[in-house]
Amino acid sequence: MSVTNLINIVSQFKIEGRFLSAAPIGSGHINDSWLITTEPSDVPDYVLQRINHAIFRDVPELTNNILKVTRHLRQRLLCVDAGIPFFHIIQLIQTRTGNYFFHDTDGNYWRLYDHVRNTKSYDIVRNPALAREAGKAFGIFQYLTSDLDATSLFEILPDFHHIAARLTAFRETIRLNPANRVSGVSDEIAFVESRADEMHSILRLGEQGKIPLRVTHNDTKFNNVLFNTADKAIAVVDLDTVMPGYILYDFGDAIRTGANTGAEDEADLSKVNIDLSLFEAYASGYLEITDNFLEKSEIEYLAFSAKFMTYIIGLRFLTDYIDGDHYYKTMFQGHNLQRARAQFKLLQSMEQHFREMREIIRIYT
Ligand SMILES: Nc1ncnc2c1ncn2[C@@H]1O[C@H](COP(=O)(O)OP(=O)(O)O)[C@@H](O)[C@H]1O
Ligand SMILES: [Mg+2]
Repeated sequence: MSVTNLINIVSQFKIEGRFLSAAPIGSGHINDSWLITTEPSDVPDYVLQRINHAIFRDVPELTNNILKVTRHLRQRLLCVDAGIPFFHIIQLIQTRTGNYFFHDTDGNYWRLYDHVRNTKSYDIVRNPALAREAGKAFGIFQYLTSDLDATSLFEILPDFHHIAARLTAFRETIRLNPANRVSGVSDEIAFVESRADEMHSILRLGEQGKIPLRVTHNDTKFNNVLFNTADKAIAVVDLDTVMPGYILYDFGDAIRTGANTGAEDEADLSKVNIDLSLFEAYASGYLEITDNFLEKSEIEYLAFSAKFMTYIIGLRFLTDYIDGDHYYKTMFQGHNLQRARAQFKLLQSMEQHFREMREIIRIYT
């Protein structure tokens, strides 16, 4: 993307000051993002994003969700005491024609956010202090949206964590066996099936009305939290997947991605384990904020939610492997299978430490 193009796109938005420079920012895998600096130095900088239209088909609905949620967060932040005035809510910038995204002649969709000054994000959770801060940040996000009607949001990715739908797709893919890979993964298939019933717990609770549908973030990765120079978490970004859901999905995915001693696609399974100190730190930060409004039934399943999210993501990697690698980008033959195995190893480690995980949740509630 040439600078002239970027300048042209930025000029579609109502920015303060003048364009100075553009540089890629972050290591997100979904959108393309640039830091747009401006002059004079006392006006805000911006983050320009090319929205991944292949994943997010309905950009107007996506944008509506983000507007609804950020407006609510901002208003609510003004009203609550809770000692969180330091929290920053990112804001979409309007185009000159009054929209919140720009559709260019090549078919690309663009949006602009205010850049949160002097912040950074981490791809890897380096220590419990940072994990605790991330737990607080996602806790604050859930606290501030706890009185927003989740059903007023558009379901951007329908049935995203719907275990019954995912298992149906898995079994159908096995039946079709399009890449002729089924016979090589019988152990993994058995692993999935032996846990399938248990993994319906959250869905059942939801369907029985025992856990509430809430506003959820659905991408609670560590690098979607912004830290200030003192390593205090001050914002949550990446609001594309904000949808109605169960908070258990958000908590579980944060643990799956943030409290793993190995990489998501680690080949050496001995390196993959649940890091209980990071789990404890994240849970303590999260519960410090959320303990007083979450329902008992939600808290009861927090530890389980980490197992659930690890299972369902492993299931999706395995399904994609059997299908012939169509959904996730792969770097080499068997990459999806390696990812699935790493998730299943993480799940086994959580199973081994499940009692301790539950005890940790109990301590902080
Ligand atoms: N408003 C912002 N202020 C500062 N940094 C940001 C902002 N928005 C995004 N970033 C940085 O850019 C990265 C990628 O943005 P993100 O919205 O998470 O895109 P992706 O969906 O590709 O992950 C983030 O991890 C963060 O480091
Ligand atoms: Mg991101």
